[in-house]
Amino acid sequence: MSSIAYITEAPPLVAGLTALGLLVALSFFVKILSSTYNTFLRPGKDLKKLGKWAVVTGATDGIGKAYAMGLAKKGMSIVLISRTESKLKEVKKEIETKYSGIEVKHIVCDYSKFDKKAQDDLKKQLVGLEVGVLVNNVGVSYRYPRYFHELPDDEVQNLLTMNIDSVVWMTRFVLPGMIDRKKGAIVNISSGSALYTLPLLAEYSGAKSFVEKFSRAINAEYKSKGITCQCQAPFYVATKLAKMRKSFSVPDPNQFVGLALKWVGYPDCVVQPFWVHAVQGWVMHRVPDSILAWFIMNMHLAIRKKGINKDLKLASEGKLE
Ligand SMILES: NC(=O)c1ccc[n+]([C@@H]2O[C@H](COP(=O)([O-])OP(=O)(O)OC[C@H]3O[C@@H](n4cnc5c(N)ncnc54)[C@H](OP(=O)(O)O)[C@@H]3O)[C@@H](O)[C@H]2O)c1
Repeated sequence: MSSIAYITEAPPLVAGLTALGLLVALSFFVKILSSTYNTFLRPGKDLKKLGKWAVVTGATDGIGKAYAMGLAKKGMSIVLISRTESKLKEVKKEIETKYSGIEVKHIVCDYSKFDKKAQDDLKKQLVGLEVGVLVNNVGVSYRYPRYFHELPDDEVQNLLTMNIDSVVWMTRFVLPGMIDRKKGAIVNISSGSALYTLPLLAEYSGAKSFVEKFSRAINAEYKSKGITCQCQAPFYVATKLAKMRKSFSVPDPNQFVGLALKWVGYPDCVVQPFWVHAVQGWVMHRVPDSILAWFIMNMHLAIRKKGINKDLKLASEGKLE
C-alpha cells in the first residue's frame, strides 16, 4: 500500500502521526540535499572579481588566520588586523612566502580599546584600498561560563566592544567603497550560540545575536546593490578561544574555512558552513527551547565549576591576571 493510501485509510490519529513523520523526514531530506549541494558541490565565487583587497580582523590565529590564508590562496591581497604586531608580521611573512603576486599589509589595532581615535586611525589606513571582502572575525567569549553578575565590569565592556563595535564600525568603513563599485562581500563571524538560549554565556550569546540580526538587515539593504552580508554561525571550532581539540564535530580552522569560503559572496544570510554543525543545528531547532536551555545550563554549570576551581588554583599560585 502506498503511504498516501495508508494515511487516508488509517484512523485519524495514526494518519496524522504518519503524515507528520513523513513531513519531518521530507524536510530533513530536502535540508540534506540543499546543504550537500551548497557545501560540497556549488562552486565558490571568484572573490578577486569583488575587489583587490580582503580585510580580515583577528587575523593572526584561529578562524581569522585561516581566512587570511584562504583568501590569499584565492589571489586576493590581504589586510591583516590584530593587536599583536609580532604575530601580524609572522602571518604576513607566511602568506608572502606561500603565495606570490599579492600584497599583504598589516594594521595593529586592539579592538578592546576601539575608541573614536582608534577608529579614525584604522579608517585612514584603509583609504584608497579597493576592498572586495571584509571578514569581521575578531570576537571574544567568557573565559568560562558564568552568571552574568559574576563578570567583572571590564569583561562586560570588552565583550560589547570586541563583538559588536568592531563589526559595526568595520562595516561602515568599507561600505561606501563597495557601494561606489557596486560589489563586495561582508562576512560576519557570529556563533551557533546566537541561535539558542544560552544560560551562563548570556552576554556572548546576546552580542552574537546582534551580529546575526545586523547581518540579516544589512544583507537585505544592500544585496540589490551588489553587496552581500553573510553571518556565519559555527558551533565549536578547534582554536585557542574554544579550548577544544579537533574531532568529528569540531573542525580545525582550516577545515572550517575551507568550507566557509565557498559560501562567501552568495546571498545566503545566516549559514553554518561546516556540514556537521548544520545537521546539529537542524536537530537542535527541533528540541523545545526550555529543554535545550535546561540541558545547556547543566552543561555550563559543570564547566563553570571547573573554571572556578582553576581560577582558585591560579590565585593561590599568584598567577591569576
Ligand atoms: N572557536 C570557536 O569554537 C568559535 C565558535 C563560534 C564562533 N567563534 C567566533 O569566531 C571568531 C574567531 O574566534 P577564534 O576561535 O578563531 O579565536 P582565536 O583563535 O582565539 O583567535 C583570535 C584572534 O583575534 C585576535 N584578537 C584577540 N583579541 C584581540 C583584540 N583585543 N584586538 C584585536 N585582535 C584581537 C587574536 O590576535 P592576537 O594574537 O593579537 O591576540 C587572534 O588573531 C570569534 O568572533 C568567535 O566568537 C568561534
